[in-house]
Amino acid sequence: MCGIVGYVGQRPAKELLLEALKHLEYRGYDSAGIALLEGNQLFLAKRAGKVSELAELVSKKSSQATVGLGHTRWATHGPPTDSNAHPHCDCHQKIAVIHNGIIENYLPFKEELQARGHLFRSQTDSEVIAHLIEEHYDGTNLLEAVKRALHPLRGAYAIAVLAADSPDEVVVARQGSPLVLGLGQNENFAASDIPTLLAFTKTVVFLNDGELAVLRRHGVELVDREGRQIYREPQQIEWNAVTAYKQGYKHFMLKEIHEQPLAFANTLQNRYELGTGRIILPELHTLTDKIHQVQMVYLTAMGTAYYAGLVAKYLWREFFKIPIAVELASEFRYSKPYLDEHTLVIAISQSGETADTLGAVREARARGAPVIAIVNVAGATLTRESDATLYTHAGPEISVASTKAFVAQLAALNLLGFFIAQQRGWLSTGQTRPAIESMARGPTLIEQLLQKEHEIARLAQIFYEKEHFLFLGRDLLYPIALEGALKLKEISYIHAEGYAAGELKHGPIALIDAQMPTVVLVTKESVYEKVFSNIEEVKARRGIVITVTDSLNREIEHVSDFIIEIPQSSRWLVPILFVVPLQLFAYHIADLRGTDIDQPRNLAKSVTVE
Ligand code: M6R
Repeated sequence: MCGIVGYVGQRPAKELLLEALKHLEYRGYDSAGIALLEGNQLFLAKRAGKVSELAELVSKKSSQATVGLGHTRWATHGPPTDSNAHPHCDCHQKIAVIHNGIIENYLPFKEELQARGHLFRSQTDSEVIAHLIEEHYDGTNLLEAVKRALHPLRGAYAIAVLAADSPDEVVVARQGSPLVLGLGQNENFAASDIPTLLAFTKTVVFLNDGELAVLRRHGVELVDREGRQIYREPQQIEWNAVTAYKQGYKHFMLKEIHEQPLAFANTLQNRYELGTGRIILPELHTLTDKIHQVQMVYLTAMGTAYYAGLVAKYLWREFFKIPIAVELASEFRYSKPYLDEHTLVIAISQSGETADTLGAVREARARGAPVIAIVNVAGATLTRESDATLYTHAGPEISVASTKAFVAQLAALNLLGFFIAQQRGWLSTGQTRPAIESMARGPTLIEQLLQKEHEIARLAQIFYEKEHFLFLGRDLLYPIALEGALKLKEISYIHAEGYAAGELKHGPIALIDAQMPTVVLVTKESVYEKVFSNIEEVKARRGIVITVTDSLNREIEHVSDFIIEIPQSSRWLVPILFVVPLQLFAYHIADLRGTDIDQPRNLAKSVTVE
């Protein structure tokens, strides 16, 4: 969950690495560091805190270096201190290593290395890598030394290594953590993600697990863990670097909330025929036979992506003639579900790098189950470990709190549900046509909701000092209640709980008093009367009710303290429309509380450790 970057080229490495680290900071931001190689001189700077503090630290350092490494950390082993910040070095400070991941068996190696006289300066697992390389490095072949050092290590890593005796190269390796190479003119890069590279190049090469590479000014060399050369065709990335910048918005989160009409439209684009209702997903054609034989579907994911899976379960159950289950990937993997070639596993992930989701997918495939991934980041590990990928086209999502990726996941899941149902004959194209027509209106309706931002910001003014919130929803608005609570707690640090509205009277109702706001989501589409009764129950206990509804009427006005009105739509759009005001509400509350919205404390954008 750290961000790493390596560079070999002609530009001033210090400035380039600091710029790249700003892009990578969403992955972890408790400390940062750089290593620069100028001739045979290794310069290191690292500091607890954000990249801006590292930039301050090195602001007076003039450097001609055109080779270097950069790291931004999310602490796992050892607190966020200067000494635990990366890069880590060998005993003589001639080799520098940056690492994203966890070395699970580092302790026995550390003890052995210390017994052999190695000097450790940090509490991290990562430092053993530097000392192991030191033991294998003869001053000539850095690649070979890295390969040998990594051989006995277990766990996950993406690493980049510099050595003062090999001044024109950076060696990188990957096992279980993301790493992509960027190819330029007389310069080459490695980084944890594509958006970081886009400021410099759009030509990339993805590294697979077990592979290493040497970056030199005039080219890159890829090898497998046995040292065999690999040729891989570079790919062109279409994302525009500009879309990854804030474009005048105060935070990436706000920009991404406002990009939702586009994210939704782009995800649907060219994937259906409006006239006939036919769903067109050529990326799934290799799985057509398997889809015909499927007897059970599991949706699996973490966090917000998991809530997207929950929404799909409610919607798909209306026409699927086989069971559907949704499980947190972290639970699914270890709960020994029955899986075979007739079980379809659908893994949902914005980043495609979430360790829990990858673990679930590996387990499913090992037991013969076909896997479809729904992923936003092109070329992410999950796409390469699944049988087929349905991309969401949300564009780069930088804010740690997921917004537009969620809406795009809901769009993709609607399409996938219809596609499977059409293939299996559970729905005719005539039956899906009205649903598709309604979805085509989605971008306009989301846009209408975004126009209500001022109204929602005023509501945030009233509530931003509260310390507890309850979110209630039922049926397909239950997952949206969970998502509304998650958004609020992630970025405002307010305690918020999401509940299925029917569960209220089984416990959480004890929390309600005149101080506790309850956000109730209620749609005309289903269980209106039941949820209406829940509002009455809250009011009877002097609770404050904020109702979010697409069925405004006198009854609701009477029992609600505040109302956010949602445009009327079909069931396929209801969850998408209801989530937008909850995102804005969380955003404006967090803004008033002055939190670090794009990089909330203790979190990271992609959780690449279990
Ligand atoms: O990249 P993924 O979609 O796999 O990430 C899953 C969760 O870590 C993610 O949705 C997380 O819950 C977000 N911070 C939610 O805003």
